[in-house]
Amino acid sequence: MSAAQTIKIAPSILSADFADFGREIQAIEAQGADWIHVDVMDGHFVPNLTFGPPLVKAIRPHVKTVMDVHLMISPVDAYIDAYAQAGADIITAHMEAGPHIHRTLQAIRAAGCKAGLALNPGTGLHGLEYLLDQVDLVCVMTVNPGFGGQKFIHSQIEKVRQLRAMIGDRPIHIEIDGGITPQTAPLMSAAGADVLVAGSAVFKGGSVSNPDVYGHNIREIRAAAMAGMK
Ligand code: DX5
Ligand code: ZN
Repeated sequence: MSAAQTIKIAPSILSADFADFGREIQAIEAQGADWIHVDVMDGHFVPNLTFGPPLVKAIRPHVKTVMDVHLMISPVDAYIDAYAQAGADIITAHMEAGPHIHRTLQAIRAAGCKAGLALNPGTGLHGLEYLLDQVDLVCVMTVNPGFGGQKFIHSQIEKVRQLRAMIGDRPIHIEIDGGITPQTAPLMSAAGADVLVAGSAVFKGGSVSNPDVYGHNIREIRAAAMAGMK
């Protein structure tokens, strides 16, 4: 990517203290988070359950940056308005969530949000060329979605490279989700990513009473990613 490439770090609150989301969000934003990534899981599309719209609405006042809501749910269309009304800035749906992803992306924009499209590790870029005018962000999953703390899947590096070439200079973010650490971040920035989601690597070792660790972790990931661009 160009020299103007900047890296955004989007901590996933899946790794936060679930009894204390408000203070956790305040702490990671104060420590340098660019976006807040909210992982919504339905126990059907992925084998785990997390946050419904009321929870997202409850945490919204604490988010001063950007609320990036990743819907790992199927069907998805029926829930878009609820997450938009809960205050999402970006809503990302999965290519694999149903047969009508084009309609889903239209519905996200119609609800007033930026539209994101996520690709599982086993999904290629085929068809994406017909969706580029409908997306503000493409999220490349570097783990199989469902859980935090999984191992980064290296085969996705080549996918990100091809995606960067396909996107060219369109104003579309490339977000990476899963297994991001100071070791894997530079591989992704070098391939052309500009938004890095990180759960366990941001929250590791810190807490709301020891938030400096969050800042240290975020700076390490960001510095490694920036170094990867050179
Ligand atoms: C995976 C989620 C991710 C995940 C990232 O299903 O979409 O956002 O929480 O967690 P780490 O950074 O721990 O892999
Ligand atoms: Zn996610």
